Amino acid sequence: EKITLSVIKADIGGFVGHSSVHPELLQEAEKTLGQRGQDLLEDFKVTCVGDDINLVMTHRKGIDNEQIHKLAWETFLSCTRIARRLKLYGAGQDLLSDAFSGNIKGMGPGVAEMEFEERPSEPIIVFMADKTEPGAWNLPLYKMFADPFNTIGLVIDPKMHEGFKFEVLDLIENKKVTFSCPEELYDLLVFLGAANRYAVKAVYRKNGEIAAVSSTQRMNLMAGRYVGKDDPVLIVRCQNGLPAVGEALEPFSNPHLVAGWMRGSHFGPIIPVSQKESTPTRFDGPPRVIALGFQLAEGKLIGPQDLFADVAYDRARQKALEIADYLRQLGPFEPHRLPLDEMEYTSMPQVMEKLKDRFN
Ligand code: F6R
Ligand code: MG
Ligand code: MG
Repeated sequence: EKITLSVIKADIGGFVGHSSVHPELLQEAEKTLGQRGQDLLEDFKVTCVGDDINLVMTHRKGIDNEQIHKLAWETFLSCTRIARRLKLYGAGQDLLSDAFSGNIKGMGPGVAEMEFEERPSEPIIVFMADKTEPGAWNLPLYKMFADPFNTIGLVIDPKMHEGFKFEVLDLIENKKVTFSCPEELYDLLVFLGAANRYAVKAVYRKNGEIAAVSSTQRMNLMAGRYVGKDDPVLIVRCQNGLPAVGEALEPFSNPHLVAGWMRGSHFGPIIPVSQKESTPTRFDGPPRVIALGFQLAEGKLIGPQDLFADVAYDRARQKALEIADYLRQLGPFEPHRLPLDEMEYTSMPQVMEKLKDRFN
């Protein structure tokens, strides 16, 4: 019988500001999933990165299951009651709709789910980021599954040598396209390089087996306007014909620039950090990523192992801080600040209106 791994996440109130999750919310999520999920889930872990609560759940119901999505929704709702009582910042901010309508997608929370046959040993990494957008996974996923300078397995492991397929979502037109790599590598990169518009939804082995899935959804126009910095999650299965744990982590040893950070309107380096250090405070950031490793055992989540707690990422952290210092000196100027059409905040219409008689 197949197992499904569902990671569903939401920001339902920050402590303090947008920097972290209050412990009472985590306890409430723990309690709710434990009680209401009793007959539904094989196992679960409640975790967080920055101001986002992440529910990591295993079950036998398949992806897009109404009961599972409802459980997550109700869990976030009961946490929101506490967030409101404590007057946490932005209480309930990701619960965009008042009523649950069968599927949590498009309602605010982020979802990454995969269903598969549990292998004799099933190592999995759940990456979780805060203060950035789903396209932040494009570069690391390309490196993990298509770059032989990152993943030596592509070259020397006969089980990986044929390559992988990338499913890419056009976030604006809401269309998908699949590239077979290495044959179509250059076509793939035309799209992956434009991470604000195209994002990797999933990666498959050539035989169709799922290898990775992200919480990439259509651009969130639900709130009546574009809200794109969703603080995405990514699930990667590892080893034995898939990237080794170390090959999946390696792309984060060179912090790349991602969109997000302060007011969702700046480029900044994504810092790989331990769970303990995942509280973005400097200029509401810089963007962060944590990596929690699990071994699945008959659906049970054995773990987590806090993979970026390793001292081997200290240099990456140092480098990210130097990049952050450099970018911050640019203040409100691009390319630190995002281009006009990608910012989450803009005063341009008001300023333009005020000055309209003076433009000639
Ligand atoms: C970034 C983020 C924060 C807020 C900022 C201003 O994704 O959530 O940087 O944008 O703290 O928040 P408001 O406008 O609510 O004061
Ligand atoms: Mg927040
Ligand atoms: Mg967040």
